[in-house]
Amino acid sequence: MNILGIETSCDETSASIVNDKKEILANIVLSQLEEHRAFGGVVPEIAARAHIDHLHTLIKAAMDDANLKFNELDAIAATCGPGLIGGVMVGMMAGKAIAASQNIPFIAINHLEGHALTPRLTDNIEFPYLLLLVSGGHTQILVAEGVGKYKRWGTTLDDAAGECFDKSAKIMGLPYPGGPEIQKIATECKDPATAIKRFALPTPMKGRKEPDFSFSGLKTAIRLAVDNLPEGDLNRNDIADLACALERTIAEIIADRAKIALQRFKSTYAPKEPTLVISGGVAANTAIRTRLQKLCSEQDTRAYAPPVSLCGDNAAMIAWAGIERLSLGLSDPLDFKARPRWPLDPTAAPRHGAGVKA
Ligand code: KG4
Ligand code: ZN
Repeated sequence: MNILGIETSCDETSASIVNDKKEILANIVLSQLEEHRAFGGVVPEIAARAHIDHLHTLIKAAMDDANLKFNELDAIAATCGPGLIGGVMVGMMAGKAIAASQNIPFIAINHLEGHALTPRLTDNIEFPYLLLLVSGGHTQILVAEGVGKYKRWGTTLDDAAGECFDKSAKIMGLPYPGGPEIQKIATECKDPATAIKRFALPTPMKGRKEPDFSFSGLKTAIRLAVDNLPEGDLNRNDIADLACALERTIAEIIADRAKIALQRFKSTYAPKEPTLVISGGVAANTAIRTRLQKLCSEQDTRAYAPPVSLCGDNAAMIAWAGIERLSLGLSDPLDFKARPRWPLDPTAAPRHGAGVKA
């Protein structure tokens, strides 16, 4: 079974072909970084237009890479939400058009489910597993019980973790997207323990019973820390120390919240081999991956993170989610409506003040 996946929900345009043997036959990802950099973030209208400009070329290149013709595809899977609606529409309509012309199933994919199921593409992770989904728009702790079956146990009450990286980077004068830039400059920090003491950043929600998150105070603390540095241009050593302190603090908060959820997961599901999976763009962060591995080894739990190249947005995860769904007989009608909001667990009660990030 060969499925073409299409991803256009944010600032990456991507087309990929994956088969049911878990082989990624093609995965082309075009980042729009340069288009958005001058604005310090993603501009929805620019993103949508860039997807229109590039998607058809990328699909053709992916088909060539996989050495397939359209009539050799078994289905099309496209991200239909959540995300920036203009971009989502571009990918969804392209996917529907190819599905209609070839008379093959169309599968509407929840972008978050793409991230959630990636570990089953890159490894043989069995349901149920505890899932930490950390990206630019979401920070959630869920139990993945099965395809389309998620229990959301925790979410952010304000900013997402990736958003905290991005906004803090901007305050430190680093370019967008901030996460990779902070990781890069943090490696120049000579003494992480001293850097952490030097800035004493807060750890919001640490110790709370419910595994929720809050990151907006951290970004404000970074603002204050920068304001308290000597006037003039920011010194590279100071930025390296601050980046390192921020990265470690975020890793600490995530590990603390994951620990609460892990204990609940074990007592509720009594899994044979308890597994904690981290996925989404922020899962590329080495400090966070390392901290979670430490937590899991203390908790007799398997830690799993997909390869860094599949943590950020890509269409291979969308094609794979399509394979998982089609294998269960699931597909969608051609009048499926794009969904700017699309929670993985629609039954989860809204968290006070959580807004759209829940
Ligand atoms: O999943 P993703 O590619 O897009 C969304 O669905 O949001 O995640 C993008 C986010 C951005 O906030 C980016 O700064 C962050 O992931 N990110 C990182 C790293 N690489 C990407 N954050 C921390 N460390 C990284 N190495
Ligand atoms: Zn994403």
